[in-house]
Amino acid sequence: MKKNYSNVRGTSDFNPHQAQSFRKVNEKAIQICKVFGYKEIVLPILEEKGLFEKGVGQTTDIVQKQMFKIEDKDIVLRPEGTAQVIRYYLQNYLHRKSNFHKFFYAGPMFRGERPQKGRLRQFHHIGAEAIGSNSIYLDAEMIILCLEILKAIGVKEQELKINTLGCAKDKEKFTKYLKEALANKKGHLCQDCQRRLDKNPLRVVDCKRNECRRVVNSLNLENKHLCSDCNSSFKELLSLLDSLGIKYSYTPYMVRGLDYYTNTVFEVTSKRLGAQDAIGAGGRYNNLIKFLGGPDIPAIGFALGVERILLTLSDGLKEETIDVFVAAMDDSLYNKGFNILKDLREKNISSDFDYCAKSLKAQLRIAQKEGAKLVVIIGQEEAKEGCVFLKDMEKSAQEKVKIEDLVKKVKQSI
Ligand code: HAM
Repeated sequence: MKKNYSNVRGTSDFNPHQAQSFRKVNEKAIQICKVFGYKEIVLPILEEKGLFEKGVGQTTDIVQKQMFKIEDKDIVLRPEGTAQVIRYYLQNYLHRKSNFHKFFYAGPMFRGERPQKGRLRQFHHIGAEAIGSNSIYLDAEMIILCLEILKAIGVKEQELKINTLGCAKDKEKFTKYLKEALANKKGHLCQDCQRRLDKNPLRVVDCKRNECRRVVNSLNLENKHLCSDCNSSFKELLSLLDSLGIKYSYTPYMVRGLDYYTNTVFEVTSKRLGAQDAIGAGGRYNNLIKFLGGPDIPAIGFALGVERILLTLSDGLKEETIDVFVAAMDDSLYNKGFNILKDLREKNISSDFDYCAKSLKAQLRIAQKEGAKLVVIIGQEEAKEGCVFLKDMEKSAQEKVKIEDLVKKVKQSI
C-alpha cells in the first residue's frame, strides 16, 4: 500500500508565509544583537552526549529524558546552545585571547518532549552569551537585549520574571534546606519529584504539576539561603532595573530547569501562550566554564524560542509580493520575456514569469495573486518594434515602453 509521509511528530513545516515571519524574527534579532556588540557564531547540530550530561546536569529532564541520541554513538542532536558555546570557547582557548567575549547564535535545537502547543521536538533558539564578567551591568545588558529583541519584533504583553539562586555555596545551602523542608511532604509530590528529592531537590521547585506546586508554594523560599554578597548584588541589580524603568516581577520560586545556573535567572513569559508560556529565558552560569574543565570565569546568557515568539504575534506579516510580472502573449515570445526577466533581476527588481503557457488573462490573474505592482506585457506587434506594454496594476493604466528603457521606467514606478 502506498504510504503518505507526514512530518515527524513535534516538528513543524513553515509555509512561505510562516517562513517569511521566521526570517524576519531572526533578522530583527540579529540586527539588535549586533547593535549590542555581540558577534555571531554558527555551531554544529551534533555534539558529544557527555557535554550536556556534564554541562546541563545528569538529573535534569533534558539529560534524563529528552536528548536524541545518534544510534551506537555518544553523539546527540544538541538540546541547547549554552554548553555548546562554552565547549567552543574552551576548545579554542578564547580565554587566553581576550578576557571578555560576547556571542550570539540562531539555529535549531532538539528535545524529545511530549509535543503540545509551543512545545516541539525541533525548535529554534536565538541565544546570546557573554563570557568573562560578573558585573550586574552585564546582567542588566542581557535582560535589556532580550527585551529589546522582543520589542523590535513586536511582541506585546510579555512579563519579565527574575530571581537569584545565589553562588554555588548558596545553592548548596538551598538544596539542603529543600531536602529537609520537603522530606515530610514527599508523599504529596509527583512520582518524578519523589525521585528528584534525593538527587536534585531544586528540580522539585521547578515542577509544573499542581500537586508539587502546592507543596512548593507552602514553603517560604524568599532568599533565605543567600550570602551577603549575593544578596546585595541582587538588590543592586533590581535597583538598577528600577532606575532604567524596566518592569519585572521577583519570582522566588523560579529556579530554571538546567543545573548550570547560579545567581541571576530570568524568564520572559507571554499571556498569549498557554501552559508553555516562556518566550525566552536565561541567567548566570558562573561555574560552568570551570566545571567543563576551564578556568574560573563567570558568564551569563539567554535564549529565545522562535516558534513561541511566532505564536504570540497575532497580526502576522503582510505576504511578500513581487514588483514585476512578465507576461508573454504566446510561446514564441518566451525568449524575449526571459531576457527581460534576466535584466530586471540583475538590477535586483523582484520579478516573476509564467512557465505554464497560460492565456494573457490567466497570467494577469497570477500577477495579481503575486501582488505584482507592474506587469510587462509582450505582444507580437510591439516586440517587432522593440517595445512592450508596461501595465500599472493599481492604476489599471498601461503605456508602451521601449525595451531598452524598461528597467529605468520600472525603477521610476516601483
Ligand atoms: P531554555 O529555557 O531551556 O533555556 O530554553 C529557552 C527558550 O527556548 C524557552 O524559554 C522557550 O521559549 C524555548 N523552548 C525550550 N524548549 C522548547 C520546546 N520544546 N519547544 C519550543 N520552544 C522551546 C536554554 O536552553 C538555555 N540555554 C538558555 C540560556 C542561554 N541560558 C543561559 N544562556
